[in-house]
Amino acid sequence: MKSPEELRSHQWYGTDGLRSFSHRARTRQLGYLPEEHLGKPVVAILNTWSDINPCHVHLRDRAQAVKRGVWQAGGFPLEFPVSTLSETFQKPTPMLYRNLLALETEELLRSYPVDGAVLMGGCDKSTPALLMGAASAGLPAVFVPAGPMLPGHWRGETLGSGTDMWKYWDDKRAGVIGDCEMQELESGLARSPGHCMTMGTASTLTAAAEALGVTVPGASSIPAVDSGHDRMAAKAGMTIVDLIHKDRRIGDILTADAFEDAVTTVLGLGGSTNAVIHLIAMAGRAGVKLTLDDFDRIARTVPVLANVRPGGRTYLMEDFHFAGGLPGFLSRIPDLLHLDRPTVCHDTLRDQLAGARVHDDDVIRTRDNPVAAEGGVAVLRGNLCPDGAVIKHIAAEPHLLRHTGPAVVFDDYKEMQRTINDPALGITADTVLVLRNAGPKGGPGMPEYGMLPLPDHLLKQGVRDMVRISDARMSGTSYGACVLHVAPESHVGGPLALVRTGDPITLDVENRTLTLDVDDEELRRRRAEWTPPPARYERGYGALYLDQITQADTGCDFEFLARPGAVQDPYAG
Ligand code: FES
Ligand code: MG
Repeated sequence: MKSPEELRSHQWYGTDGLRSFSHRARTRQLGYLPEEHLGKPVVAILNTWSDINPCHVHLRDRAQAVKRGVWQAGGFPLEFPVSTLSETFQKPTPMLYRNLLALETEELLRSYPVDGAVLMGGCDKSTPALLMGAASAGLPAVFVPAGPMLPGHWRGETLGSGTDMWKYWDDKRAGVIGDCEMQELESGLARSPGHCMTMGTASTLTAAAEALGVTVPGASSIPAVDSGHDRMAAKAGMTIVDLIHKDRRIGDILTADAFEDAVTTVLGLGGSTNAVIHLIAMAGRAGVKLTLDDFDRIARTVPVLANVRPGGRTYLMEDFHFAGGLPGFLSRIPDLLHLDRPTVCHDTLRDQLAGARVHDDDVIRTRDNPVAAEGGVAVLRGNLCPDGAVIKHIAAEPHLLRHTGPAVVFDDYKEMQRTINDPALGITADTVLVLRNAGPKGGPGMPEYGMLPLPDHLLKQGVRDMVRISDARMSGTSYGACVLHVAPESHVGGPLALVRTGDPITLDVENRTLTLDVDDEELRRRRAEWTPPPARYERGYGALYLDQITQADTGCDFEFLARPGAVQDPYAG
């Protein structure tokens, strides 16, 4: 237990000077009695609630449960509204703003009288953003995942947000269903607050947070509107006060072992490829060197056990929750985890998992009956991607995993949309579709363009997958032989910029290679002729982003935020 003088916030409230007098006077202005807050740990609740964000719309209420927990444990809760990242609404992509929320998080925690933080988020990028900022700030912190929305329903079918939206949109285009059905679907696809309830990017990243040890055990799969979500939020409030007293900081939790276990978890869940970028960025903030090769190495040791769409075939997050959730899943792979590391609620992960069980072997598979024998992500290298690329090979047609074909190159996404059905391009099932200028700077923000559409004439012939290569990302709900995150990206002159239509390209997943079969002399000639495309932004945040963003293999953090080095506490020195 910390004495009041040992708390960081003491420097704001407890000293004799004019400044503390002023801070106390202003807290009276807020309506608090001295005995309600003086000497107590101050807990900042960073809330990404917004009217525009359906994934977080319940968090305004949920913050009250966090406050309840903080008060009961003897702390002083203060809620801070922070930037909301809504995957659905924010354009061109919320990936552009992940680092902005991380920066906001870090600076709020540093500049205010805060002893510890509760971070509330869950829609795709908000989880890594909050954890990156908190890791840089270095205080104790607990993450409250927003929780998945309830399963969608329509005319007796269970619907997954995202995945089924595309499916029914195609049905409408094909004339199978009409406007009346679409109107019903509009109300059925997403029927409660909460983030996407497939194992897309949101569920993958909140599971990673739980595996890292920064949530209450079992938190990540609790449906957003379940009463258990309130109880979890209250527990998070109690936990942060305990962590402050123990001086257990986020850096004590976010260790190299914790990141290895998070990678193991993401791969064993058959989770989103986006997690590769986010975990590398989060690790970087925690001073842990995590690389693409770590993902490839670990993938070979982890079976996919979560039978949750889209990686699995059948279930949604609510099923996963009632089958045992992440504790149940982790209880199936204890030999692959580092069990002696601390979490926010327990001294060891081993203690945390004591008693964890699986209640449905079809949802969370046994080791001898996995969804896939190996983790779903492979890391490729070669002259087309010197700094790496990734492919979710379990979601691709097996015959394409070793394939050579001629490239058809699109310089940007709009051109691709306009021309993909043009017969003059001569696209066949063997063609390798190449999209460039969709990376961190070229996109900008690496939009989820990576699952390039197949031309209509091939779809009609029954072709369902082709090799596709880009410097873009792909939605956690997508699939296909899509090589993603090619680094360096074409916009900065990566070899992807030098590919010409007709060049042979070889993908070989077993040997982890991606090769442009053009000789070095010719590539040198093409490079000499290459001119960089114009910058996407001239001013404002976009210009800062272009100036600072790093490539996919290093996590797309900002250079000045990823850089090591101390930042002074405002009251230090
Ligand atoms: Fe927020 Fe899918 S739109 S998680
Ligand atoms: Mg998504």
